[in-house]
This record gives sequence, structure tokens and C-alpha cells, in this order.
Amino acid sequence: MTQFAGKTAFVTGAANGIGRATAVAFAREKAAVVLADINERGNEETARLIRDSGGRAVTVHCDVREEDDVRAAVRRAVEEFGRLDIAFNNAGRETSLGPLDALNVDDFNGVMDVNVKSAFLCMKYEIPHMLENGGGAIVNTSSGAGVIGIKNQAAYSAAKHAVIGLTRSAALDYADRGVRINAVCPGIIATDMMQRVSGGTAEGRAEMLAEEPIGRFGRPEEIASAVLWLCSDSAGFAIGHALVMDGGHTI
Ligand code: NAI
Repeated sequence: MTQFAGKTAFVTGAANGIGRATAVAFAREKAAVVLADINERGNEETARLIRDSGGRAVTVHCDVREEDDVRAAVRRAVEEFGRLDIAFNNAGRETSLGPLDALNVDDFNGVMDVNVKSAFLCMKYEIPHMLENGGGAIVNTSSGAGVIGIKNQAAYSAAKHAVIGLTRSAALDYADRGVRINAVCPGIIATDMMQRVSGGTAEGRAEMLAEEPIGRFGRPEEIASAVLWLCSDSAGFAIGHALVMDGGHTI
């Protein structure tokens, strides 16, 4: 359980859901973890979980839509732990549901900023530090909505498709310099986001569950395992991959 000993992992959206589970999993494998989020309370809770089990974590307030915040957060990671080896660019959010003509431009731009621009900004500032160490591993969070179209979620689906395009192209840019860049595509995972999308009702959840071939929602820890694998030496030949973890939802 020490495969990331001596390494530093930077995780966005670490205050909740998939980001929290992945930050905790990295810490369990002995990485020092930098928790970046706009939700400072949630971030502190993630840090407490890690420290209570003997891990190392620092929190940093970071709005991933803002270049200055991302630049400062990545710099903080390196100042705190001396290096940057791993990044999980995961912060993101859904849109309100509805057909395309009901989407307003602010909603569209907002969902692109938080899901796509964020991954661009994070990679832009993470990669130079990884190159200084001779390499690193990055995973961006896409979605099942990044590989198929989703009714009433055009902007979110477009954003998550874009994350895969960004991931694959960046992967080619750095493949010969030791920085491996991949994406993970979660299906429906039991987090606060899923609760919001379901409308927070038992009926909403039942409707979503009816579409799951595996008969259940995913757990954040199941996405964490995929991310840890993509960042591990075992995945040394995985470049530009979009690893779908969705209980069969998109097959
Ligand atoms: P969540 O809502 O539980 O957690 C998202 C975290 O991102 C929160 O801590 C929130 O404060 C943070 N965040 C939101 N906007 C931010 C910003 N501008 N700057 C910094 N942090 C920000 O959501 P969940 O489910 O853990 O989602 C994580 C990622 O997984 C997202 O990119 C989401 O699109 C993706 N995803 C989630 C699925 C699900 O069913 N839960 C399915 C497919 C993808």
C-alpha cells in the first residue's frame, strides 16, 4: 500500500464525491495530497479524513475556472511538497436539464468553463512541474456523457466530449517526455451531483437506476481505483485513454 510513496498528487474537486474518494485513496498509497476546491469546509473534511489515517494533505482554495487560482494552487503544491507527480483534474458540474433551445449562453459557457477550461488550465500549469521531474501522470474527469450523446444535457455532454479531445491531444504532446495523460469516464456515481441530477427524489433515482445494466449506481471508490491505476506504473503504456467505468451504461 505504498505505491505512491514520495510522490505528490494534486486533486481538484477534492471536497466531495469522486475527488474526495480519490484523494483519500492516493493518501492511503502514501502520496502527499493537495486538495483543491472552492468548498473550503468540504476540503477541510477531506484533509481530516486523510490526516486521521496518518496521511499527508494540504488544502488550497481554488476556483478551477480562474487562471490565477489554478496557477497559485499548483505552485502551492510544489512549494509544500517539493514536487508534482500526479494530477487528477476532476472538479466539474452538471447543467440544468432541458433541450438545447432552452439552454442559455451563460449556462453553456459556465459548464464549458468548469469542465473543459479547467482541465486546460490545470494541465497548462501542472505539466511544466512534471517535466522538471522527468515525468508524471494526469487524469482528467470526463463522463459516460463524454462518449455518447445524452438527451437534455447537450452542453454537459459537449463539455465532457471536449475533455476527451483535450486529453488525447495533450497526451500526444507529452507522450515522449514522460507525462502520461488519460481520462476517466464515470457512469452514474452515487454523489451529491447524482442527487442533484435525480432531482433529489426517490422517483428520480428509480428512473435513473432503471437505465443501469448492472442494477446499481457506482461508488466514488470505484472511480478512485481506476484513477489510481491510470496513475500507477502498471499503466505505463496507457496514453490518451478514456477509461469508461459505468457498469455497462454506455455499451
Ligand atoms: P460533486 O458535486 O460531489 O463534487 C464536485 C466537487 O467539485 C465539489 O467538491 C465542488 O465544490 C467542486 N467544484 C465545483 N466547481 C468548482 C470550481 N469552479 N472550482 C473548484 N472546485 C469546484 O460531484 P462528483 O460526482 O464527485 O463529480 C466529480 C466529477 O465527476 C465532475 O467532473 C463530474 O462532472 C464527473 N462525473 C460525475 C458523475 C456522477 O454521476 N456523479 C458521472 C460522470 C462524471
